[in-house]
Amino acid sequence: MNNEFGIRRNLTQYGDAEFSAFLRKAFIKALGYTDAALDGPIIGIVDTRSGYNACHNNIPDLIEAASRGVMLSGGIPVPFPVVSIHESFAHPTSMYLRNLMAMDVEEMIRAQPMDAVILLGGCDKTVPALLMGAVSANTPAILLVTGPMLAGGWRGERLGACTDCRRLWARYRAGEISETDIWEANGELAPTIGTCSVMGTASTMALAAEALGMMLPGSSCVPAVYAERRRLAERTGARAVALAAEQLTPSRIITAESVTNALRVVLAAGGSTNALIHLTAIAGRAGVKVDLDGFDRLGRQTPVLVDLKPTGQHYMEDLHRAGGLAALLREMRPLLNLNCMTVTGRSLGRELDCAAPPFDQDVVRSLAAPVYPTGAMAVLRGNLAPAGALIKQAAANQRLLQHTGPATVFESLSDLAARIDDPDLDVTAESVLVLRNAGPVGAPGMPEAGYLPIPKKLARAGVKDMVRLSDARMSGTAFGTIVLHIAPEAAVGGPLALVRTGDMIRLDTEGRRLDLLVDDAEISERRRKLTLPDPGVRRGYRRLYLSEVTQADRGCDFASFAPEPTSVAPAERATP
Ligand code: FES
Repeated sequence: MNNEFGIRRNLTQYGDAEFSAFLRKAFIKALGYTDAALDGPIIGIVDTRSGYNACHNNIPDLIEAASRGVMLSGGIPVPFPVVSIHESFAHPTSMYLRNLMAMDVEEMIRAQPMDAVILLGGCDKTVPALLMGAVSANTPAILLVTGPMLAGGWRGERLGACTDCRRLWARYRAGEISETDIWEANGELAPTIGTCSVMGTASTMALAAEALGMMLPGSSCVPAVYAERRRLAERTGARAVALAAEQLTPSRIITAESVTNALRVVLAAGGSTNALIHLTAIAGRAGVKVDLDGFDRLGRQTPVLVDLKPTGQHYMEDLHRAGGLAALLREMRPLLNLNCMTVTGRSLGRELDCAAPPFDQDVVRSLAAPVYPTGAMAVLRGNLAPAGALIKQAAANQRLLQHTGPATVFESLSDLAARIDDPDLDVTAESVLVLRNAGPVGAPGMPEAGYLPIPKKLARAGVKDMVRLSDARMSGTAFGTIVLHIAPEAAVGGPLALVRTGDMIRLDTEGRRLDLLVDDAEISERRRKLTLPDPGVRRGYRRLYLSEVTQADRGCDFASFAPEPTSVAPAERATP
């Protein structure tokens, strides 16, 4: 019998394959299956629910609907659990755990019998981890996100996590709203289950995954609580059975060209800076290297077209009503690689031809009338960021994109927390706030701490934005003139470790430069005296993490988990 199909795939090794199959059948029959039921293809369903994870709370419904789709198409659905990560319930950071989740996904797909797998999840690190694991396992896979939450309302204004969480918190710190107000608003920021309702990392990765070809067309923006989300799950289940028959694996879908499409969508959506790290890691698993300077070139050619917070004004449910990703892809059509394969078995271009016709709406703009004229993000280099840094210029104060000012340095997150509101802090509105030892190794786990708070004494004087630099990340829902992902990070000896309070720093976004204006001899002398912090921990996952994690320019994946690259994204656009 075929040991590469159905219940006989990935047999436990006892040295006797027939006995392995015999034993497996005995145990699965304990769940009530008949032999006849186990003859068809098996579709694994990755279950990422957890009592801590409101973003995934509809997963039981989605499993039920996806299972129905699988069975209507002649397959057997088998849900199985993996690690579940919610942004606010992950210490020290969710990023620290992303690669653990990717390992879990990869190994459980490899370990258990399944002819295809449905990947269910949605919170920020979940989609990247699901795709990283699935790409490495290279079993036919299809993703379905849990979908965005609906927007809330407070005293006449619409609210959504988490752009408005940060905006209201900044107003509270500045003394503009009271403690009663902030806690009243707290109950309206996440009014339903689902992923954050703005163009944060979850929304960005959902759009990117659909553009990559790993989800059914039209499935990225449908709200978590809509009936359509369950119907999508049923269709995803049905398609998973076909994927198994066609052996359409992620390696045939995730290519330099499809990664380029996804990167372009991130830029045109005004997406999260985190998406660049995640797409770099996902692509890396497929042997595709993402080139930062190439990404910057894409940015110069790709305007922001989606008018969503934090860059614009709308929420994900508005993008869904405006036609979802298809509305954006249609506008971007001249920029896309249309021949790329998708999970439907048809090309992106063909799917776009079949999408519903356009109609008047005010969420997705045309190339001729963009929200922001060039890409949402710019890649910086310079003596402070030899391996690159990123700025989300579309969400920055345009006046500060060209700025020179004196550094105010914070050694770590705890130093930041201890001193940022000190009335005697040496800082003015022209200062450049610098946070270090908050990178992949230093924190560890590269927290979303790049959105340094404005010092209270300046916030209360009306200062809304300052230039802020760090080796940390920033939530996709945040905004401000913030330089992130500085690589190499301070904890591994990057130049950020050499900055002192009072040094002048120049941010030249137009020229794509970030420089410490200190002469080379002085920088060399500081380097000679530099001692690196001792990470301290010598056991368990943290030991694996610290020994394997790469810098932001390599997606913070574990070094030995990605194969040698065989292609580079962005790729030239093929003539359709
Ligand atoms: Fe899960 Fe925002 S916290 S998507």
